[in-house]
Amino acid sequence: MNAGIVKPGAIGQPFSRVDGRLKTTGAATFTAEYRIPNVAYAALVFSHIARGRITAIDTRQAENAPGVLTVITHENAPQMQQTPVFGSASDDSAAPGAASSSIPYLNTDAVYFYGQPVAVIVGTTLEQAEHAATLVSVSYQEEAAKLSFQAEKANAFEPANVLGENPEYRQGDVEKAYAEACYKVDHVYTTPPFNHNAIELHATLAIWSEDERSLTVYDSTQYVIGIQKMLAKKFSLDEAQVRVIAPFVGGGFGGKGNAWAHVPLAVAAAKVAKRPVKLVLSRAGVHYTVGGRTPSEQRVALAANAKGELTALIHTGITQTTAQNDFPEQFTFPARHLYKAENMWLLQKIMYLDVVPNTFMRAPGESIGTFALESALDELAHQLGMDPVELRARNEPDVDPTTGAPFSMRNVAHAYRVGAEKFGWVQRHPTPGTTRAGRFLVGYGVATAYYPAYQFPAAAKVQVYADGTAVAQSAMHEMGMGSATVQAQNLADALGVPFDKVRFEYGDSRFPEAPVAGGSNSTISVGAAVQAACDRMKQTLHGLVAEDDASPLIDTRLNEVEFRDGGIYSRKDPTRGETFAAILSRLGMDNIEAEGAAAPGADATTYSMGSYGAQFCEVRVDADTGEVRVTRFLGVFDCGRILNPQTAISQWRGGITMGIGMALTEAALFDERKGRIVNPSLAEYHIPVNLDVPAIEIHFLDIPDPQTPMGAHGIGEIGITGVAAAVANAVFNATGKRIRDLPITLDKLLGSVPDMDVSDYM
Ligand code: MOS
Repeated sequence: MNAGIVKPGAIGQPFSRVDGRLKTTGAATFTAEYRIPNVAYAALVFSHIARGRITAIDTRQAENAPGVLTVITHENAPQMQQTPVFGSASDDSAAPGAASSSIPYLNTDAVYFYGQPVAVIVGTTLEQAEHAATLVSVSYQEEAAKLSFQAEKANAFEPANVLGENPEYRQGDVEKAYAEACYKVDHVYTTPPFNHNAIELHATLAIWSEDERSLTVYDSTQYVIGIQKMLAKKFSLDEAQVRVIAPFVGGGFGGKGNAWAHVPLAVAAAKVAKRPVKLVLSRAGVHYTVGGRTPSEQRVALAANAKGELTALIHTGITQTTAQNDFPEQFTFPARHLYKAENMWLLQKIMYLDVVPNTFMRAPGESIGTFALESALDELAHQLGMDPVELRARNEPDVDPTTGAPFSMRNVAHAYRVGAEKFGWVQRHPTPGTTRAGRFLVGYGVATAYYPAYQFPAAAKVQVYADGTAVAQSAMHEMGMGSATVQAQNLADALGVPFDKVRFEYGDSRFPEAPVAGGSNSTISVGAAVQAACDRMKQTLHGLVAEDDASPLIDTRLNEVEFRDGGIYSRKDPTRGETFAAILSRLGMDNIEAEGAAAPGADATTYSMGSYGAQFCEVRVDADTGEVRVTRFLGVFDCGRILNPQTAISQWRGGITMGIGMALTEAALFDERKGRIVNPSLAEYHIPVNLDVPAIEIHFLDIPDPQTPMGAHGIGEIGITGVAAAVANAVFNATGKRIRDLPITLDKLLGSVPDMDVSDYM
């Protein structure tokens, strides 16, 4: 077992972000900010139909516009190779590469969605390129597009798999159990499409070498290695000839996990223009060309006996995706792991629409899945006349309910106890609509947070320098999560070097391979690789002294020494030893390096590994206008050992903030006649702002998972899970109105929202 779990060190300390000063002073350079000599600027022309073919494209006016260097369309674009689609259900999702869909952008006259790039303008200035983009005139032969979720529902089908799992799970006779139960609820919950809105706009800066044999790309990505492999294939280059750099990323949330159209198009444009090309999407460009979260319709039916023990749990539903990417969101995953129920039926279906391919968005599946499941639990608790916290406690499983595997760690009941106490849950009045503060109706709601703990293969390199400093490198990403800080802490402890003497380098495909920064995997995936590299380094360093007459550690064995304070010391005699710097300078070496790699152990699948949380919410609803304000929010998280409380708390707060947006304000408004998103700007797509978000109180249990590196779990995604349900449950407690359709806007609270017919789902 990792000694780091018990030894005090850098891990567990609330260090400020190592990149914090650079970012707050503007010294951190993001993709769009690199100044490259002779750079040209690209702008995209978007399709104005949802499906069909381009019959003619008139670029003459654009070509003659001032400052225009070249106009690229499907008629003159370089041929690019097809590459595997990342994270899809039917392709090999483990295939390297990061393509967001199989659409051969600008190598086809076919249009697959409204907003698909159909031309790229390269200009001397951004303004010139953007102006010229308005001068391109495209003629289409339009085809009937599938744009209506409701109309396509009847054609929904089971995907090949959902993130590698069977889309259906059945246990017992759920229909019979449901029919026989005294207490039951059965409703449909709906969530709208959500768009990605990271602060940093997606950007790519492509620089070809003069001989066009090598390519350097700055890209705002969560996956430098994936982009590297994809571009190498697309442009028929050796992987070693493609370098992808992403030192800082201004938020990703899954929207930068795949390469969207602008990435290969910027590279193609640079090739045609024979100049470095910078392509920064506009906010509307992000909404049009970067996929977001699928809308969903989910049925949850729960039945219980008088003790509140679940006898039937049904969670089925439909999400949309496209034939070009095939990505089902795993909304049934929480139901697979959260509650004990004798009879269970879980099923996911998908349908294809002609829209921008959907993608990962913070806790894809778990965020919308917990909205439905945790709302239904609240509805059942109300019917039983039971406290919703108590109802969850009564259905706490001893082993994973669907796999039968033991939990590697699970303290969700403990999280609820802590949360109820800190939040003052006892003050909740169980009868809805009975607590008032002036003209406001006050309500409390609670919901469970859940996200799996993933580890992926990763590699790292460590170097120790003669000046006593240590550096680790991995092609990991820092998008604001605090990963660079946490890995520096990990490096310091693993090598026995003070925190101020270590540095962590990341965001460059030249560094040892690391996975996509997705699925909250980075911390333990890269953490384990850094530790493996440090283990090698320690063996190497010890090997240098154990046979050296000049060293006080001659003839020691590895298990007789410890690594601390930047040196090696005898365990028996702490005064006997020497610093790494002393060793290197005696041997006349500038530095020593060691590499290491790690992958999940063989027994990773023998455990059910997840993170949990209890989300508590207080709302005030204006009794006259229906306006909802979240007045208090408190989350308690069970995510293994917490490596840095400061950055962890910030992650959970961010997740909860995003969840409040999901609950109350966010929705991409989709015009089903044209297939156009009609609110592609931050003025009309409402992400929560400061006044929408109260001070969020965070607690964490900090109980290590004995099965994971460092005892830790990823923490990036769990924060958003359960939030929308906690808000909806609080709104019900305040008003007696159950809103099952996100976002919970005042029109729904003031009007009457008809319940959807569950019979579609039988
Ligand atoms: Mo996360 S949606 O896997 O970036």
